[in-house]
Amino acid sequence: MVQPTTLGEFIVENQKDFPFATGDLSHLLTSIRLAAKVVNREINKAGLADILGAMGQDNIQGEAQQKLDVMANDTFMRALRSMGQVCGVGSEEEEHYISFDDDIHREAKYVVLMDPLDGSSNIDVNVSVGTIFSIYRRITPTGTPVTLEDFLQPGDAQVAAGYVVYGSSTMLVYTTGNGVNGFTLDPSIGVFCLSHRDMQIPKSGNIYSVNEGNYVHFPQGVKEYIKYCQQFDAASGRPYTSRYIGSLVSDFHRNLIKGGVYLYPTGTMAPNGKLRLLYECNPLAFIVEQAGGTATNGKQRILELQPSELHERVPFFIGSPEMVDMAHAFLRRYEEE
Ligand code: AHG
Ligand code: MN
Ligand code: MN
Repeated sequence: MVQPTTLGEFIVENQKDFPFATGDLSHLLTSIRLAAKVVNREINKAGLADILGAMGQDNIQGEAQQKLDVMANDTFMRALRSMGQVCGVGSEEEEHYISFDDDIHREAKYVVLMDPLDGSSNIDVNVSVGTIFSIYRRITPTGTPVTLEDFLQPGDAQVAAGYVVYGSSTMLVYTTGNGVNGFTLDPSIGVFCLSHRDMQIPKSGNIYSVNEGNYVHFPQGVKEYIKYCQQFDAASGRPYTSRYIGSLVSDFHRNLIKGGVYLYPTGTMAPNGKLRLLYECNPLAFIVEQAGGTATNGKQRILELQPSELHERVPFFIGSPEMVDMAHAFLRRYEEE
């Protein structure tokens, strides 16, 4: 039997992509890999242990925190702190960024932004959830405590980004700016193995993903684009299929593989959309572009946006490039009217 390439081997082999690499990023990815396995184990027994349901408190964004949100946050925080490569972490579950302010961590080069558990409202009903992470080089000098400025960098400055999908199988997908690779966890040996080398998103597809319950609140251009997706046109394979899990990671992962478009636009209920620029949109935008796709806020590339606050939300259009272009054409047409 041919031995699969493990994630650990792949990280070491690809360290040469970074001309002056010291191995710090490789160690950092190793911490993330370990935390992903721990979270995977906990999620897998979610129906057995008393870890389902709400904590009885809201997070900073006013959303009900699930017990597993807290567990995933603590697990990743601990893993990132356990080695010396990270000087601070911004998390969807924390009001402020966490500064690892001691003699060792102050010398570290990297900051991490994360959504420790994405789609957590799906966990009680056994539907796939995920983790999203994004890694930047700090701007402030090493040896000093991190500041907010280190976290508010445009997505184009990301050094690496990835996600874990805890699904029918558990996968870790990441990029360091040199293509996208996916690894599937072999649960019998507890090892992520390279299963999806150099992932490319199809230029077009036949899936559109949007929460249509919000339809009446959407801008006219989005409504017209949705109607376009639903109209019959044999030549372009329409009507498209509607698929919406409600776990961004899972919706994104499916569209990355099959081709499709995911929309979370503005709405009268959510003037800036719902999804968070730093924890959700930037990392997935980096991945999709590396796989040949597009991610915008309806006007501009997500990766060019200058963040102004940690928990900032933006409208999000991501997926196959020709499909995102068509959505833009509708947005422009109805904006001009
Ligand atoms: P999180 O669980 O991290 O708060 O994220 C939930 C997000 C995302 O995963 C999903 O795509 C979106 O919320 C769904 O929102 P709606 O329920 O409004 O469709
Ligand atoms: Mn999320
Ligand atoms: Mn979350």
